[in-house]
Amino acid sequence: MIKSPLEIARESYFPSLPQSLRASVKIVMGEKTQSVADQKEIKEMFPNTYGMPIITFEPGETASSYPPVKVGVILSGGQAPGGHNVISGLFDGLLKCNKENRLYGFLGGPSGLVDNQYIELSSNVVDHYRNTGGFDIIGSGRTKLETEEQFDKVIENCKALGVNAIVIIGGDDSNTNACILAEYFLKKKSNIQIIGVPKTIDGDLKNEVIEASFGFDTACKTYSELIGNLQRDANSSKKYYHFIRLMGRSASHICLECALQTQPNITIISEEVEAKRMTLEDIVDEIVDIVIRRAENGDNFGTVLIPEGVVEFVPAMKQLISELNDILSKFESEMNVLERNRDRRDFVSTKLSEDSVIVFQQLPNSFANQLLLDRDPHGNVQVSRIETEKLLIDMVKAKLKKLKKSTDFRGKFSGQSHFFGYEGRCASPSNFDANYCYSLGYTASFLISENKTGYMAYVKNLTAAVEDWIPGGAPITMMMNMERRHGEMKPVIQKALVDLNGNPFKKLLECREEWAIGTKYVYPGPIQYFGPSEVSDLTTHTLRLEQLGE
Ligand code: FBP
Repeated sequence: MIKSPLEIARESYFPSLPQSLRASVKIVMGEKTQSVADQKEIKEMFPNTYGMPIITFEPGETASSYPPVKVGVILSGGQAPGGHNVISGLFDGLLKCNKENRLYGFLGGPSGLVDNQYIELSSNVVDHYRNTGGFDIIGSGRTKLETEEQFDKVIENCKALGVNAIVIIGGDDSNTNACILAEYFLKKKSNIQIIGVPKTIDGDLKNEVIEASFGFDTACKTYSELIGNLQRDANSSKKYYHFIRLMGRSASHICLECALQTQPNITIISEEVEAKRMTLEDIVDEIVDIVIRRAENGDNFGTVLIPEGVVEFVPAMKQLISELNDILSKFESEMNVLERNRDRRDFVSTKLSEDSVIVFQQLPNSFANQLLLDRDPHGNVQVSRIETEKLLIDMVKAKLKKLKKSTDFRGKFSGQSHFFGYEGRCASPSNFDANYCYSLGYTASFLISENKTGYMAYVKNLTAAVEDWIPGGAPITMMMNMERRHGEMKPVIQKALVDLNGNPFKKLLECREEWAIGTKYVYPGPIQYFGPSEVSDLTTHTLRLEQLGE
């Protein structure tokens, strides 16, 4: 790997660890847990891993001695900054627990476990990737492990290599998979432990113990830098409206955090759209109203932040997409033989309900085609391929054209579309993510050494100094509920959507009018890895508002 001067300088950054992981570590068992909802069903489905207690690691007095273990690790799903540091923390933690411990990286995500593709992660390999972005150390993938045949293959491969534990670094779907595997392995008395690590830039894998998923911090800072640059450009040339769609498949956490960092004119929050039962036309009307009011002040420019998942939160669209998901899964072979988009649209139109067919047929063809693209292996619509920002620009333009005829609107509107997603997922981890990920990996090594399975590593108290962070493990079953997937009810980790009563959203509400009409842009600039701590160690506004109210 050819390294940039920054990457070379970052090699010497040594991530900080919470005090309780620095010397001897004591395990403290907490209260028994129950699932966040649907307790009866989840308990029945996970008889071996349901109800386990929360674990906290505290400073101990004497070092424990642990038997040697061989551990496998996979990176699962979309990339998130800091994955390499989870692996380096895991590697260092394992060596601290027992010098004989070994770490193997399964290649290309979950499929590597089934296909038995792996490399040994020695210090020669790991050292090269410390504090770097990306998942390229072992690659990632979205294969879903769901059949008993796949599970048995994983057992066979692990047994052959002598692997006693697997660490799954992933989002809600991958950790749901981790939980199912842990349960299956206990049922089969295979003696292979499973530990999850909360990854996703989307920020929606959080709950009472998981305060943030890793990667959210760096991704939001990267997007905010770009948004700030666009805002400065807009404020200089004063001729464009930038419609910026931001990644975050379901929840709008990224959009909200970037808004708090950059203070754009308009921020759409999907959860609010759903709560107010807004239609696409309502969203367009709100944008148009602000465009007109800014034009009255002579400001024919602005920024609009759009969460990529918003289409799934417009109630009529949500219903349509849910029906499409079922149709695409039920009539997969019939759809696969239809090559022309028009034929695919006509086919699904015959299967949709009366209400949904009207919504579907009113959409521009290009947008309707995007809704018919393949689902991911977990049954999710690939919203990163749905160009909502372009649809909104067209709708706003059309509405303003009409208004120009009927009112005295004399402003100008010229929209530029952007999508920021992949730009942020492999950025060099911020100091926060570098420390957080390293600590998560280190914590996972202790959960393994303590012979735990079905747990997700966590590190809490994240707005405090790193030495005061609190590491531990939370049973994955406590995060689960039942949801409809591929037309069937399935146990899955509950996603954390934006809380409309939470401080981050309330802050946006408080400032919305002022940011809409005034031009109050903030230009955050690039992530700083060196320099004053108040610049280089900043956490997100979301975390600070959630935990400290500021
Ligand atoms: P994870 O949930 O796996 O972390 O991935 C999240 C995400 O980055 C979403 O924000 C985005 O919609 C999706 O991945 C894109 O997926 P892909 O990499 O397959 O295009």
